[in-house]
Amino acid sequence: MDNAIILELRKVSQHFSINKDLTVQAVDGLDLTLRRGEVLGLVGESGCGKSTVARMIAGIYQPTAGEIVFHGRQKPRVQLIFQDSAAALNPRMRVAEIILEPLRIQGQDYQSPSVKCRLVELLEQVGLAARLMSKLPGELSGGQRQRVAIARSLMVQPELLVADEPIASLDISIQAQIISLMQRLQKAYNFTLLFIAHDLSVVRYISQRTGVMLKGKLVELAPTEELFGHPEHPYTKALLSAIPVPDPLYERQKEILYYDTSCPLGTEMYEKRPGHFVRAV
Ligand SMILES: Nc1ncnc2c1ncn2[C@@H]1O[C@H](COP(=O)(O)OP(=O)(O)OP(=O)(O)O)[C@@H](O)[C@H]1O
Ligand SMILES: [Mg+2]
Repeated sequence: MDNAIILELRKVSQHFSINKDLTVQAVDGLDLTLRRGEVLGLVGESGCGKSTVARMIAGIYQPTAGEIVFHGRQKPRVQLIFQDSAAALNPRMRVAEIILEPLRIQGQDYQSPSVKCRLVELLEQVGLAARLMSKLPGELSGGQRQRVAIARSLMVQPELLVADEPIASLDISIQAQIISLMQRLQKAYNFTLLFIAHDLSVVRYISQRTGVMLKGKLVELAPTEELFGHPEHPYTKALLSAIPVPDPLYERQKEILYYDTSCPLGTEMYEKRPGHFVRAV
């Protein structure tokens, strides 16, 4: 498999100056590489900087320090999928127009018969009936709207899809469907997927590697099964211990670990095992 690096974040930071006395360090010296066709999960508590990373990769924010390097012949086509698809879709546009919009924005022909075929094909691939093409977002369920958002992101055949908590606003039963849909599409198209979630259990089954963020920094990054089997950083251990297990007996006895997030973080990451990086404590 071609697993060339397509994107590198080198000591990337993003500061927001709130007023003259207050600067928020949303992302702080982040190093990360993404390879072609890989699925990387990024998790961490609210406010740790996940969406800011997503926006910088999508070019919505420029890093205030460090650099983002795109490899290959051209800047990869990056598409973003948001948590709140209802808000992300124009309420006055029909499903077909929404899905074709990226082509229109890029100045490509969006009315040719081949594009129409592609639209029908995409609807089918994301599990939407063709008759929904003429609906408005307000006439769809949350899960259907997220399927529309996914179809739209695939219209321009992205090399990199950044999904920022794409299932957080959906019912539990729908969450599993959307995750398995994204998994299927990723395998079919082999795009790189950065999958952002609050919760480690969500990324376990979709990502090959998982990164844990805290206060704008990565504290741990490892192949997913390695991270779950041999967590090293106390914050990762605490997150893992809080994941519910469907066994009432075990649940009653299990020990939930606490991590004081006000603890200062170490300055360096080291490679504990091959591909398993941990921030020094
Ligand atoms: N445009 C902005 N202006 C000022 N501060 C911002 C801005 N965007 C984000 N922040 C701040 O930067 C920090 C990181 O925010 P970010 O949205 O990246 O976190 P997150 O991990 O995505 O959180 P959540 O899980 O709640 O979505 C937070 O303290 C947030 O308040
Ligand atoms: Mg966010």
